[in-house]
Amino acid sequence: MIADISSFELAGGVSMPSVGLGTWPMRGQEAVTAVRSALDVGYRRVDTAENYENEDAVGQALAQSRLDRDEFFVTTKFNKKWHSAQGVRQALENFLARLGLDYVDLFLIHWPNPQQDTYVEAFTELVMLVDEGKMRAAGVSNFKPYQLQNILEAGHRPALSQIQVDPERQSAEWQAFNTEHGVRTEAYSPLGRQKSDFLSHPTLAQISGAHGKSSAQVTLRWHVQSGRAAAPKSADPQRQRENLDIFDFHLTQAEMAAIDAMDTGAGPFTDSDEFGH
Ligand SMILES: NC(=O)c1ccc[n+]([C@@H]2O[C@H](COP(=O)([O-])OP(=O)(O)OC[C@H]3O[C@@H](n4cnc5c(N)ncnc54)[C@H](OP(=O)(O)O)[C@@H]3O)[C@@H](O)[C@H]2O)c1
Repeated sequence: MIADISSFELAGGVSMPSVGLGTWPMRGQEAVTAVRSALDVGYRRVDTAENYENEDAVGQALAQSRLDRDEFFVTTKFNKKWHSAQGVRQALENFLARLGLDYVDLFLIHWPNPQQDTYVEAFTELVMLVDEGKMRAAGVSNFKPYQLQNILEAGHRPALSQIQVDPERQSAEWQAFNTEHGVRTEAYSPLGRQKSDFLSHPTLAQISGAHGKSSAQVTLRWHVQSGRAAAPKSADPQRQRENLDIFDFHLTQAEMAAIDAMDTGAGPFTDSDEFGH
């Protein structure tokens, strides 16, 4: 029997669909249409951010779907200007207004912005907002182990850490640190954002042939079977369906190890010590 990994539990007991729709860089009507079609084909999690400038479009699509609030999960992320106790509260209010929701499922610090050095203060306030019921879970994105360590030392454990992971860029040290501290990892750009041709790599081609699945499906299955959530972006209903259709097969240990071995050791496209918004 194939284990059900269509959802994952986060620290604090919140359940989250393991595969969600990535929405960057879609905006406006393109984003409304894509999120609507994703909800129609069965997605129940959407990944957005203040910086994507599409939260209003995501909110419109969610409203049009007529799903009950507890049937979908929304992740969003806020920018560095809100990295303070007061700022985090204001960011949340802004987010809720743009989305037309009365709570958020998962709120992430989008980038650590170490030059500003206020992410611990921001995370401390997020924890209070979880306690007040204004959000279900709080997490971080693009945090290196030393940055996560600073949050842990302040006595907090993020529910999730969203980082760039694909077969060729696995950020193994970051992932190991997350796992060691009970922080769920989520892969962004889980298909490599089409910046690399790894989907035609012989390892993936061979495994996809064995299972009658595409290389993208094998890659996404590798993510979730590793215990890592993923947010693939697609504007195309057919590829959206394909990316969600990964729960009816199982990769063997040897297949998982073969994909693990594709790691080139290259880091994320963007260094979060240098870049952030
Ligand atoms: N936290 C952060 O700092 C951060 C950074 C980057 C991204 N993200 C999030 O992660 C999401 C995903 O990352 P991403 O958009 O960079 O990259 P991605 O999901 O790895 O790749 C998206 C690209 O792959 C194509 N694609 C999707 N499904 C496919 C399939 N089955 N076969 C072949 N091609 C396929 C898409 O084209 P079509 O649309 O034409 O299908 C699109 O060009 C973003 O949308 C965003 O929500 C977060």
